[in-house]
Amino acid sequence: MLSSSDDETIFHYSLLSFFIIAPPTFISLRFLQAPYGKHYRKGWGPTIPPSLAWFLMESPTIWFTLLIFSIGQHNSNLRSILFISVFLFHYIHRTIIYPLRLHLNNNTNPKKSSSKGFPVSVAAMAFGFNLLNGYLQSRWISHYGNYVEESDWLFWGRFLIGLMIFVFGMVVNVRSDLSLVKLKGEDGGYKIPRGGWFEIVSCPNYFGEIVEWFGWTVMIWSWVGFGFFLYTCANLIPRAHANDIWYREKFKEYPKSRKAVIPYVY
Ligand SMILES: NC(=O)c1ccc[n+]([C@@H]2O[C@H](COP(=O)([O-])OP(=O)(O)OC[C@H]3O[C@@H](n4cnc5c(N)ncnc54)[C@H](OP(=O)(O)O)[C@@H]3O)[C@@H](O)[C@H]2O)c1
Repeated sequence: MLSSSDDETIFHYSLLSFFIIAPPTFISLRFLQAPYGKHYRKGWGPTIPPSLAWFLMESPTIWFTLLIFSIGQHNSNLRSILFISVFLFHYIHRTIIYPLRLHLNNNTNPKKSSSKGFPVSVAAMAFGFNLLNGYLQSRWISHYGNYVEESDWLFWGRFLIGLMIFVFGMVVNVRSDLSLVKLKGEDGGYKIPRGGWFEIVSCPNYFGEIVEWFGWTVMIWSWVGFGFFLYTCANLIPRAHANDIWYREKFKEYPKSRKAVIPYVY
C-alpha cells in the first residue's frame, strides 16, 4: 500500500507533467503532424482500423477513471458524482459512440474508410496520455478536490456556467464530427465541408473540443482541469493549422475567409 504522502507526490508529479508536456507538444506539432487521417505517413509501424484505434486508445478514460474514482474518499459525494458523470459523458461518446459511427460508416461503404489505417504507435501514445488524464481528473475529483466544502452558491454557480460552456462545446464537436464522417463521397475521397460552423472555421470539431475543456476548467476550477485544457489546445491548434493549410493546398476553391479553429481569430 502507498502511504498518503507517496500518493500525493505521485499526484503532484503527474499534474506537473501536464504542464511540462504541453509546450513541447505545441512546438513539435507545428512542424510534424501526428501521422493519422489527412496527415498519415508511412514509417510509423503497423496500423489498425481507425474505429478500433479510437476505441482502444480512449478506453482508459472510462475503465481507469472509474477504478481511480472508486478508491477516492469522496466517491459517494453528490458533487463528485456529478463531475465524473460529465467527464464520462464525453468519453462514452468518444470511446464507444464515435468509433461505432466510424465503423458503421465504413461498413456501409468500405471505400469511405481511412484506407491508410491508424498507426498502433500513435494509438499507444494516446493510450498513455489517456491513462494519465483519467488518473488526474478522477483522483482530483474523488480524493484531492476541496470543492466538497465550498458554499452552495460558489459551487453551483461555477458548475452551471461551466456546464453550459461544456455542453455548447460538445454539441459543436459531436455535430461537426458527424458531418465529417458522413462527408466522404462514394469514391471515399475528402470533400470541402460546408454549412454551420464549417463556414467560419476549418476544424469546428476541434473548436468544440477546446470549448468543452474550457467549460470543464470553469466547472471544476482546478489545475487538473486547466492542465487538460492547455494540453488540448497544444494538441489541436497546431493540427487545425495544418488541416487548414492542407485544405487550401488540396482545394483551390477553398473559402478564403475561414479561419483554422478559433472563429474570426485564428
Ligand atoms: N482532446 C484532444 O487532445 C484530442 C486529440 C485528438 C482528437 N480529438 C478529438 O477526436 C475527434 C476526431 O479527431 P480527428 O483528428 O480524427 O478529426 P478529423 O481529422 O477531423 O477526422 C474526423 C473524421 O472525419 C473524416 N474527415 C475529416 N475531414 C474530412 C473531409 N474533409 N472529407 C471527408 N471526411 C473527412 C476523417 O477521415 P480520415 O480518418 O480518413 O481522415 C475522420 O473519419 C475530434 O472530435 C477531436 O476533437 C481530441
